[in-house]
Amino acid sequence: MTNGHRFVLAGVMGWPIAHSRSPKIHNHWFGQHAINGYYAPLPVEPGRLDAALRGLSALGFAGCNLTIPHKETALRFLDQVDESAARIGAVNCVVVGKSGELIGRNYDGYGFIASLHEAAPGWRAEQAPCVVIGAGGGARAIVDGLLEAGAQEIRVFNRSLGRAEALAADFGARVSAYGWGDREAGLAGAGLVVNATSQGMVGQAPLDLSLADLPKSALVADIVYAPLETPLLAAARKHGALPVDGLGMLLHQARPAFRDWTGVMPEVTPALRATIVATL
Ligand SMILES: NC(=O)c1ccc[n+]([C@@H]2O[C@H](COP(=O)([O-])OP(=O)(O)OC[C@H]3O[C@@H](n4cnc5c(N)ncnc54)[C@H](OP(=O)(O)O)[C@@H]3O)[C@@H](O)[C@H]2O)c1
Repeated sequence: MTNGHRFVLAGVMGWPIAHSRSPKIHNHWFGQHAINGYYAPLPVEPGRLDAALRGLSALGFAGCNLTIPHKETALRFLDQVDESAARIGAVNCVVVGKSGELIGRNYDGYGFIASLHEAAPGWRAEQAPCVVIGAGGGARAIVDGLLEAGAQEIRVFNRSLGRAEALAADFGARVSAYGWGDREAGLAGAGLVVNATSQGMVGQAPLDLSLADLPKSALVADIVYAPLETPLLAAARKHGALPVDGLGMLLHQARPAFRDWTGVMPEVTPALRATIVATL
């Protein structure tokens, strides 16, 4: 598709931002679909987000992604926030509307569920309890995505119990919070366990979780994608369960954002995945 005179500008606001893979993802799609456009890393200091967001319309941006530390703060600077972003309490995609209004969305939950379906097309959220380890912003998006996908029971385990309890209270009766010490017993009968903490990331300790009580038929997903195979995913492989890496979530959350800005829903292809894997 060639867009004639239109030039689509988008980017990602974060601090720091140089590490972000999003420019590579979106610029790959601009090229693949022959759309005139560019996606830029946008270093925005904490405290300057309001001014940066207000500048999007004047600069002719179609929108932007938001990453650490701006996802939660952005809520108060936007003109509209969709239901999913409001439930999660964080925005990862901003769309500039026709009148310059700023609309906040959150596609992290969508990206997570899409990554599970890509890895295991037969997996169904409602078939067995889902276990979420962690209760931060990523965990909230995953819980929202799982509920939207039909999960009937979500067990949340977090180091700080109060945060897990607050998450469960926000998302209703299908979500329950449990103490950190019970996380291994909580794997019994589960169809999915997901690490939504920062544990296992390069430079961090592995997630402390034995999979002994997890059914071998379960999926083991990690929100962390650097390294691509975290110690948890290596343990899942050894256990006989299917590992699902965090890169799928990152790639799939980008698709509807690109669609919102350009009108084209792009695909996650092996070529795109290989391009990003080469940067890890
Ligand atoms: N793949 C993707 O597309 C994607 C999307 C979003 C985020 N992420 C990644 O997900 C991770 C979490 O991000 P976030 O935004 O949810 O962060 P966050 O809001 O700061 O939450 C961090 C979570 O990690 C837990 N945690 C931290 N250190 C821990 C430790 N030593 N032991 C046990 N739990 C620990 C925290 O528990 P407490 O509440 O007890 O502190 C909390 O549950 C990051 O690595 C981020 O890069 C990936």
